[in-house]
Amino acid sequence: MFAILSLAFVSVSSAAQPAPRSNGLAQTPPVGWSSWNNFGDDINEQIVIETIDAMIANGMRDAGYVFVNLDDGWQRYKGARRDHPLEFDPIKFPRGISYLADYAHQRGMKLGIYSGPGQTTCAGYTGSEGHEAEEARMFASWGVDHLKYDSCCSHREAPKEELQKIFRTMSNALMAQKRGIVLHACHCGWGDIWEWAAALGINHWRIGQDISDDFNYPGNREQYYFDVLDQLDRGVGLEKYAGPGHWNDYDMLIVGLDGKSKQLVGTGASNTEYRTHFSLWAMVSSPMLVGADVRKLDQYSLETLTNQEIVALNQDPAGNIAHKVRDDGDLEVFAKELADGS
Ligand code: GLA
Repeated sequence: MFAILSLAFVSVSSAAQPAPRSNGLAQTPPVGWSSWNNFGDDINEQIVIETIDAMIANGMRDAGYVFVNLDDGWQRYKGARRDHPLEFDPIKFPRGISYLADYAHQRGMKLGIYSGPGQTTCAGYTGSEGHEAEEARMFASWGVDHLKYDSCCSHREAPKEELQKIFRTMSNALMAQKRGIVLHACHCGWGDIWEWAAALGINHWRIGQDISDDFNYPGNREQYYFDVLDQLDRGVGLEKYAGPGHWNDYDMLIVGLDGKSKQLVGTGASNTEYRTHFSLWAMVSSPMLVGADVRKLDQYSLETLTNQEIVALNQDPAGNIAHKVRDDGDLEVFAKELADGS
């Protein structure tokens, strides 16, 4: 049982951190939808258009959910980048990605895309290795606003310098574009990424393994997945690394999946647990990308996600991260100071 309170507290100094390299973006955590948690790579133009339309009709856009992010599976080819170009799949996306970016922009929303630093992505599609500048130009020309750049939790033992090089290369390529593109380094937190990501211009970085659709599963499913409370525990102590423009990412939201995702493992959580998960992600200022099929959200999930006071906790301009201020075993209290001093 969790109680969530807003209390004043003394914030931890971040003086030892290297200065962030700012692209001026993500001054508050990105909030929106991402295709992976529900659809996996089974995505297409119709799903994206219907998602945008649904987010407008059900009030999510007006509650702040402006990012609509394609995850893995938009690419035409599976296999190594050295053997194939990186192109959109013309069957799944007959009018191309720029059509979707325009569709989103005309409606006050933003479009995100996905790639990775390897020869292949995690689902086996062509990655961007060796073609970062070319790919950044292509994404910018399509009007993309957000890039999830995914190393698939590889490089666990790699020296930090190697990891930094991977992400620096894409960050530099994006920063060379006129168009501002938010950079998400999807990475399991190896090499203490939180210590150096902001200095490379990364706007958010995953702190742990993929989330499963569970609130508190004993251990890790398949010895890999993190449930809600695992993600939260992982973030304790990392608060000082986050702030406006650079955020710890606790992974995408599982609210509304109800154990029915085609992609994620897990048996779902209760409404109260999903609501607690959402409130906690707001308190720790994580990006909040809904993973459910928003065309079919039930009323309770929609009320959870569009609770304006909770979204405002996440989007508070001070960008403070809640700290655990009390832990009595069954009761944990998280608190953060808001911009207005409350
Ligand atoms: C990794 C990421 C997921 C998703 C998939 C796509 O597992 O952690 O969030 O992007 O890759 O293949």
